[in-house]
Amino acid sequence: MYSRIQGTGSYLPARIMTNHELAERVDTSHEWIVERTGIHQRHIAAAHENSSDLAAAAARQALSAAGIEAGAIDLIVVATTTPDLVFPSTACLLQEKLGIVNGCPAFDVQAVCSGFVYALSIADNFIRAGQSKCALVVGAETLSRITDWSDRSNCILWGDGAGAVVLTASETPGVISTHLHADGRYRDLLHVNGGVSAGADGAYAMKMEGSAVFKIAVRTLDAIVDETLAANQMQKSDITWLVPHQANIRIIQATAKKLGMSMDNVVVTVDTQANTSAASIPLALDMAVRDGRIKTGDVVLMEAFGGGFTWGSVLIKWI
Ligand code: UT7
Repeated sequence: MYSRIQGTGSYLPARIMTNHELAERVDTSHEWIVERTGIHQRHIAAAHENSSDLAAAAARQALSAAGIEAGAIDLIVVATTTPDLVFPSTACLLQEKLGIVNGCPAFDVQAVCSGFVYALSIADNFIRAGQSKCALVVGAETLSRITDWSDRSNCILWGDGAGAVVLTASETPGVISTHLHADGRYRDLLHVNGGVSAGADGAYAMKMEGSAVFKIAVRTLDAIVDETLAANQMQKSDITWLVPHQANIRIIQATAKKLGMSMDNVVVTVDTQANTSAASIPLALDMAVRDGRIKTGDVVLMEAFGGGFTWGSVLIKWI
């Protein structure tokens, strides 16, 4: 038994914050942000919108695209770094919002920007093991709530949003392989300076040593590309689409170069959505499915790198 993505969906909050608006708050410029990151704007959740609200909007679209009633979902996995509450999990809040009362398991996964590839891998394994037939996998973030809006080296990077897929059992793969990694020795290079157990000295926010993270991200993503191709005895030319985590256009370009791939075969959303952490891959996937770029038979490589460090990939055939 294998799994396949049967439907995708996404949601972006209505409010758009441009680089020009940011330049009124911190000492930066539109030109600097575009040159160093590729980002032009980001979406920011309204005060009444929490991660579970973004997740619910994306999930409803994915269910509709898959032609599946919410009640048929038998597993909910939400990847998020910005849960609504300490508990219940965002997945349980989502279950309630979707009116799912069949008692299916629902839980969150925390792997920061790699969260969606972790969540997809977990759901794929549930389906392969026969424990699920129809899983809802969501990446949802309200990173604006943990952004230090006075830190110019950091606040330019993040955005809010959610993306979702419905993953169903299939006799042919769909999901070809998944590859997950972590190395906690790098915890300090990208982290939030507070939390429930550790407490916080004032408001807590994301901290990053940007250029160190950048270099390790490029190296690590090169390695995950090699690992994924080797595991499947595939060549670079077998990949039709790269759907990368959207951290920085220069990191994305480096991975495309490694694959010998034209940027025409890379799905890019970082320009309009910035880095939405666990939401960025399902947001990009949904865009390329809806606008017709990803077609039946295409081989799609998704890869991500984030805090922890965590990193991973999911290779799929669009069937
Ligand atoms: O999703 C998880 C993974 N995240 C990532 O992979 C992000 C990785 N890192 C990055 O994307 C980049 O490192 C950044 C975009 C964060 C920074 O770009 P950079 O090219 O690495 O710049 P830098 O940190 O080396 O800073 C270069 C200069 C510095 O000035 P000096 O010391 O050369 O005088 C900074 O103070 O740019 C300055 N700077 C800024 N200038 C204008 C830093 N932020 C800004 C800013 N506007 N917003």
